[in-house]
Formats: sequence, C-alpha cells, structure tokens
Amino acid sequence: MKPAIRKLALITGASAGLGAAFARAYAARGFDLALVARRLDRLEALGAELTKAHGVEAFAIQADLATIGVERLVLGAVAARGGKIDVLVNNAGFSIPQSFAAVPWERQRDFLMALVVSACGLAHGVIPGMVERGRGAIINNASLAGFAPGTPGHTLYAGAKSLAIKFSEALDAEYRAKGVRVTALCPGFTHTDFGRANGTQVAMDSSPRFFFQTAEAVVETAIHANERGRVVVVPGWHNKIAAALLRYLPDSLVKAVVRAGAEKYHLEGQAAAGIEQG
Ligand SMILES: NC(=O)c1ccc[n+]([C@@H]2O[C@H](COP(=O)([O-])OP(=O)(O)OC[C@H]3O[C@@H](n4cnc5c(N)ncnc54)[C@H](OP(=O)(O)O)[C@@H]3O)[C@@H](O)[C@H]2O)c1
Repeated sequence: MKPAIRKLALITGASAGLGAAFARAYAARGFDLALVARRLDRLEALGAELTKAHGVEAFAIQADLATIGVERLVLGAVAARGGKIDVLVNNAGFSIPQSFAAVPWERQRDFLMALVVSACGLAHGVIPGMVERGRGAIINNASLAGFAPGTPGHTLYAGAKSLAIKFSEALDAEYRAKGVRVTALCPGFTHTDFGRANGTQVAMDSSPRFFFQTAEAVVETAIHANERGRVVVVPGWHNKIAAALLRYLPDSLVKAVVRAGAEKYHLEGQAAAGIEQG
C-alpha cells in the first residue's frame, strides 16, 4: 500500500501567541509542522506536545527572521528533511512603540526585515513548488492596523501590515488560477504575548476585554477563510465594524479617532527604556 501523502505547514513565530495557535490548529488537521522562531526551547516543547497529541511530525528551525537571507536557511532546513511545503504561515511579528528616531535604525531595519522582507522571501521560495504541485496555501498575518492611518509610535507597523494585505491581494491575482490560495489575516486585539514583548501590556490590559479575541478563534477564522479562498479576512464582528468604519468614515475623523486611541500605546524616552527588545 502506498504511504499516505503527508502535508506540511511552515509557521513563523510559532514560539508564542498566534503562531503557536496556528501550529496547534494545523496539527489537529493532520499536518506535519516546521516551526520557526528564535526561542528553540519553546518550539521544541510545542513540537513534542503536538507530536504526542496528533501523531504528526514537528521540527523546530531556530532562526532570526531579521537576518539577511534567512529564508534560504529556513527553506534549506525543510528541504534537507525532504519536506515540501503545502502551507506557509507568515506570522512572526512585533512592534516598536517609540517614535521613529528614538530607537536605533538597526532596530527599525530588523522590524522591516522580520515582518516584510523575510515574509516576502519565504513566499517567493515556496510558490514555485506550490505551482508545480498545483496546490498550496499562504496566510500572511497582517492586522486591522493595515487599514488604519499611521500613528505616533509603531511608526512602520501600519505600513508593513498594509503591505501584507496588498501583497496577499497581488499574489492571489497572480497564483489563484495555479492552485495557490493566499489570505491576509487582519486581527484586532488578540490575547498573545505581543504587549509583553513590546512593553505595552499595561495599556492593552486597560482596553475593554470585549475588544479581545483568543488566538484560537482568530486562527480558526483564518484557516476557514483560506480554505474557502477568501483573500482578506477580518476575524470578529467588532473588528469587521471597525474595518468598515476605517474605510467609510471621512479621513480627518478616522485620523483623529485612531490617533487618540493609539496615544496610550506610544511609549517615549524613559518610559520605554528597559522593555524587552524582542
Ligand atoms: N496580538 C495582537 O493583538 C495582534 C493583532 C493584530 C496582528 N497581530 C500580528 O500577529 C502576529 C503574531 O503576533 P502575536 O500577537 O502572536 O505576538 P507574540 O505572542 O509576541 O508572538 C510573536 C512571535 O513572533 C516571533 N518573532 C518576533 N520577532 C522575530 C524574529 N526576529 N525572528 C523570528 N521570530 C520572531 C516570536 O518568536 P521568538 O521571540 O521566539 O523569536 C513569537 O513567536 C504578528 O505579526 C502581529 O503583528 C497581533
């Protein structure tokens, strides 16, 4: 009897939050996993847990996605094990709550490398194989912020997330007919380690609980949307309303409201000193 063909999902930022939830969701669907992040111990622990629970193969790839050429390292590690990637989840991310020039340029550059360049590089690397096999899926984790105007602090965040949305739309236009489904996921507030990593957890905790979704709910919405061929998905009806308001209200009103709301997430000078740079 021919062995069953096993599918493989490559997930970046799988050591925490939404990435770990993507790993759990794809493992529950029977996918083998390639888990990417810097914290190897967390990736290995999650992999072992999911192998035990679902009988899937999971392997960890320790990589800093802010490194030039990291996509070659990551895809090379998968290829060395004979893996063919059926699903790519570009999820890894963080944000920088200070004003643009208040942190070293290298940190801003790392942001662009990790959230934009390596995500595009991974997609560039996996698409030819997906086209050849006539099937594949890419989920780019963007954000509701991708629809919003720029705010003080998190200077590059809205632009990077907007790029993730437009990039997904363009890839869909290019590759849907060749069997590749591409989805931009645009979550609002989600319970993860995001605020702890960038020093805005206190501000996040002061926002109404009602605005927050669980990582599991966001990920299920994303995977269903991708399976149905939806190109842009906003999880949660409160976020859908927010996205519609961002689109249809007058620009000046949107800017005023978004900036006022973003103020408490803008950390400056001493207030931002000592936050985890990760
Ligand atoms: N939480 C929210 O409210 C929210 C809302 C909208 C969009 N998002 C987006 O969701 C994605 C996941 O964030 P999250 O909320 O799950 O945050 P999280 O819990 O802090 O997880 C972030 C993940 O990204 C990884 N990562 C960060 N920098 C990296 C780098 N240089 N190289 C490799 N991996 C890196 C981290 O792993 P290591 O530290 O181990 O490397 C971690 O696994 C992000 O793209 C974020 O923008 C989040």
